[in-house]
Amino acid sequence: MNIGILTGGGDCPGLNAVVRAVVRKAEKYHGDTVIGFRNGWQGVIEDDSEPLTIEKMRGTLPRGGTVLGTSRIQPFAVEGGVEKSKETLAHHKIDALIVIGGDGTLSVAVDFQNETGFNVVGVPKTIDNDISGTDMTFGFMTAVQTATDAIDRLHTTAESHDRIMVVEVMGRNSGHIAVWAGIAGGATLTLIPEEPFDIEKICSALKARHATNRFASIVVVAEGARPIDGTMESIQSETDEFGHVQLGGIGERVAKEVETRTGLTCRSISLSYIQRGGTPSAFDRVLCTSFGVEAVDAVHEKDFGKMMSYQKGKVTRVKLEKSKSSPVGEDLINVAKTFFLPGMN
Ligand code: F6P
Repeated sequence: MNIGILTGGGDCPGLNAVVRAVVRKAEKYHGDTVIGFRNGWQGVIEDDSEPLTIEKMRGTLPRGGTVLGTSRIQPFAVEGGVEKSKETLAHHKIDALIVIGGDGTLSVAVDFQNETGFNVVGVPKTIDNDISGTDMTFGFMTAVQTATDAIDRLHTTAESHDRIMVVEVMGRNSGHIAVWAGIAGGATLTLIPEEPFDIEKICSALKARHATNRFASIVVVAEGARPIDGTMESIQSETDEFGHVQLGGIGERVAKEVETRTGLTCRSISLSYIQRGGTPSAFDRVLCTSFGVEAVDAVHEKDFGKMMSYQKGKVTRVKLEKSKSSPVGEDLINVAKTFFLPGMN
């Protein structure tokens, strides 16, 4: 068979590990040819591709980023994009396309499959862990570890100076990274998109904590966290050329508000792309490898229109659908709340 593969959307640790596993399984066990399309769907639209071999993928398992490149360009947003993509796939005699991406890239895969009838298989990626149909996306655990390591370091400097440290982590619609890193890093407070916050409550909780001589507080803020309407000025976010809202800045805003309202010294740091870069964790390498192998199995079983999924510790397949919201589970929020200051949520 001829299998096409692409990586789309924001990058994330483990993309190369999936591609490597696909190539390994497809070439070694089935004698397939794997064609990698460059820069996500753009490579399909513009016929920009390269054959991928086991030899070519050597050494890429621990490498962050994606050797294929990525973008948010997609066929439905480009004039004649769908037709051009069909031509490219026909030209390379591609039997099935493995699409590795987040909600944007995968929902294009759903539309493309519905519009053209092309055989598509999806692999869910995003450090935000906010794709429905899977307990976990790859890249998430690596991002959580990176954020936790950073929080550990911030604890010591915060303690030395008796400061409040506000740490902004990624998480546009869901606070998975914030809650996991908040619990793992022993944060004082964690603010997530799922629960709009009251800045006054945050300030009085922090004031009470510091009044009892407990030094240093870590406040973890997901980039998508927002204040309850009317309690604090909101951040005005810009939108990029793909209609993707560019978040960031809420941590700094919270730090300023807390400092002004409480008189306590506050510093903020945004972990930003540091969470997305670098080598995948051991867990993510195993998850990515399993997803890649499973995706090739799906192709050979002609089980198209499926997304690889991690459920209850196992890799399985679910229907490839547009992602619905995937908030942090109530159980974990309750665990986190046990450690938050009383009266917070
Ligand atoms: O991949 C998801 C994500 O990391 C979000 O958490 C973040 O808001 C966004 O990507 C940033 O993407 P970009 O690469 O467009 O700045």
